[in-house]
Amino acid sequence: SERSAAVPVGAEVLVASNRGPVSYGLTEDGTLTAKRGGGGLVSGLSAIGPETNAVWVCAALGDGDREAVRRTGGALEPGDTGGQRVRMLDIPAEVHAAAYNGIANSVLWFVHHMLYQTPLEPVFDAGFRAQWASYEAYNRAFAQALADEAAEGAAVLVQDYHLSLVPGMLRALRPDVRIAHFSHTPWAPPEYFRMLPDDIAEQLLRGMLGADRLGFLTHRWANAFRACCAEVTGGTESTRIGVHGLGADAGFLRERSQRADVQERMAALREQIGTGPDGTARKTVVRVDRTELSKNIVRGLLAYRELLAGHPSWHGRVVHVAFAYPSRQDLAVYREYTAQVGRLAEEINAVYGTESWRPVVLHVKDDFARSLAAYRLADVALVNPIRDGMNLVAKEIPVVSDQGCALVLSREAGAHEELGKDALTVNPYDVSDTARVLHEALTMAAGERGERTARLAAAATALPPAQWFLEQLQALRAL
Ligand code: G6P
Repeated sequence: SERSAAVPVGAEVLVASNRGPVSYGLTEDGTLTAKRGGGGLVSGLSAIGPETNAVWVCAALGDGDREAVRRTGGALEPGDTGGQRVRMLDIPAEVHAAAYNGIANSVLWFVHHMLYQTPLEPVFDAGFRAQWASYEAYNRAFAQALADEAAEGAAVLVQDYHLSLVPGMLRALRPDVRIAHFSHTPWAPPEYFRMLPDDIAEQLLRGMLGADRLGFLTHRWANAFRACCAEVTGGTESTRIGVHGLGADAGFLRERSQRADVQERMAALREQIGTGPDGTARKTVVRVDRTELSKNIVRGLLAYRELLAGHPSWHGRVVHVAFAYPSRQDLAVYREYTAQVGRLAEEINAVYGTESWRPVVLHVKDDFARSLAAYRLADVALVNPIRDGMNLVAKEIPVVSDQGCALVLSREAGAHEELGKDALTVNPYDVSDTARVLHEALTMAAGERGERTARLAAAATALPPAQWFLEQLQALRAL
């Protein structure tokens, strides 16, 4: 590297992630429109206060972002980013696509969430090797940018499976900095992880072990990582491992969910939900997800259909409010899954719906205010992922719920480690049992529902995002 003996005045705290706090759309007349990024990682990191004075290094994800980098040199306005100092990297589009869609979201996401249909997938061939070279190049671009921006002895907090190789690469460029890596996903058990070619599995683990400290959302994922290291690299060497269960931001959510735009959307939703034969508001089963294969939206709809089939008494008296926001639409499997969700919702409405009752209200246009409106009105929340690092929706709903909400929660969500006592637990593959638990949730007495919701909210907010971040920063500095 070009770094000279005179160390530049750089940042003391750096965060690195593929998706940053903001992404830009580009309108036809050349105007850039800023939009907040989605997913648990951005929700968590957006709460880092200005007092940490962190620089957030992220990738340009589309044409709007690339244009923003061209106009600003990559240093974005805090006014557009929710107050963060952001450095956006313009990695060549084809390199980014191979690394992000090809390796990160196809291979690594699928491994950690155990999503492969193994008779046919995965196939690690020459095409995979070519994408892997892009993944290395993309990780190297981050490592170099961090090396350029970091002050002597800075703390660098690298996020997620997109950037697994960065700790090792950065360590080689800048032995003076302290490096942490945090995984927002589950970690696969060794017998699944070792589907990866041996050299790739080893490179990934050694890349992460280049960090001083590794963080996971639950003990289960941390233990799986240790087990993989025991088999592949012979151990975790001198790297420390910590568990930090990211919680919901109660202050932000409570304030945000009382605003006028949320009230308006509540009124609109109430209208769509309607009233039952006795004139009282219909009960609601609410879910809010990215349309994501791991979220298990299809089995959720199948369970709801089975509820209606098994309990005619619910006809006309319940509505499934399902928000499924498009995600990773460059990938064909995500597009097909999105279509399947739409078809199944229509099918249920065609079979059971009447002139005055739409059993499934499906919304696909991402709208945070409407999500909060649904959180507030939910009688039952359905959070049934196949596997999930944490799942913040399960933590957010009890915090803003107006009249208490019964939480139906997959035992495979990281959040279950903290919320399991007061949620109604389901095996995400067991559709019939999920239908049975939905019925139980819908008939839970108001008193019990309220008490459980209060305990869920307390557990869900035990480690708010700002504290979650500071805890890791302090642990890194204390090494
Ligand atoms: C998960 C990942 C994040 C990611 C988010 C949204 O929460 O752990 O790293 O940002 O999904 O996915 P996307 O591909 O849109 O960034």
